Amino acid sequence: MSTQKNVLSCLQPTGELHVGNYLGAIKNMVQLQQDYRCSYGVVDYHSMTMPYKADKLRQNTWSLCFQLLACGIEPENLFIQSLIPEHQELCWIFSCVTSYGELQRMTQFKDKSQQVSQQDAKQFISAGLLYYPVLQAADILIYHADYVPVGKDQEQHLELSRNIAARFNHQFGTEYFKHPETLFTETPKVLSTADPTRKMGKSLGEKHYIALIDDEARIIKKIKSAVTDTGDNPAGEMSPGVKNLFILLQNFGDAAAHESLLEDYAQGSLKYSELKQTVADATVSYLRPIQERHREITSDKRRYKDMIKASSAEIRKRAQQTIREVRDITGLQSLKL
Ligand code: TRP
Repeated sequence: MSTQKNVLSCLQPTGELHVGNYLGAIKNMVQLQQDYRCSYGVVDYHSMTMPYKADKLRQNTWSLCFQLLACGIEPENLFIQSLIPEHQELCWIFSCVTSYGELQRMTQFKDKSQQVSQQDAKQFISAGLLYYPVLQAADILIYHADYVPVGKDQEQHLELSRNIAARFNHQFGTEYFKHPETLFTETPKVLSTADPTRKMGKSLGEKHYIALIDDEARIIKKIKSAVTDTGDNPAGEMSPGVKNLFILLQNFGDAAAHESLLEDYAQGSLKYSELKQTVADATVSYLRPIQERHREITSDKRRYKDMIKASSAEIRKRAQQTIREVRDITGLQSLKL
């Protein structure tokens, strides 16, 4: 058995990744692969909790897999959640040690159920939305994860996963499930290019984010038209839009260019056009190898799909082992093979 600590994280297949996702999460997930046994899931079951179209989900699932591979996630560390149905079984078992009240109090449930009731006249709020964090606890605990790299918005879900582990252990008089720790890494908060008072996100619209697979012309256009000064900024403070451009430069460009433009800014001689040009060049060249890799992968989809199916089957064996043990602990039956 591996003595390396287990890291687990999952992403919902929502389509294109943007530079905010990359700098905020994926870059770190790629690096963690050097020191830990990492398993990264594309959680398509989770994406069923909000209204969706089957074809779009199928397409987004593979598209996220291909983008993650292009960023440097190793194929053997990647799985698709629905290829490992054991997550569902553990979700059911966990739902019996979770209280209805604590699920209703989850911030994400409250936010999303409000969203649904505002958008949809029929006000359909699925029970799946309520169960969402139980399934997430199953994703994490089924692999005995030690660390879960996620953003601050997921802290409440992690706390629930720990509570579920504790309650399961207590109820069955065992120390079977570990308590997963959140792995916070200082990551830059990338803002929308069109409205830098908000976080970069896809729900805001196409102008607001730079996708990892945007073509060169589009990246340049988005950076050149990025909002810099909004006018209502306190005197003497860098405006969020300018700060955002510096964040991109710091992460995608070289330190010297970043330093020297910051100095220009301090002296009041910085031309935003020059800053934007430098940021655009740096972003384009940083993303180039990722985009090239992405083209390679998507021109040979069959091969990469087979690879991810094979790695999911391999990762599934660990989930099956957990389920065998959990069935035994909880008094459920197993067909001895
Ligand atoms: N809820 C997470 C998000 O929205 C996605 C997720 C599902 C997840 N299962 C997980 C994250 C397990 C970490 C571990 O980002």
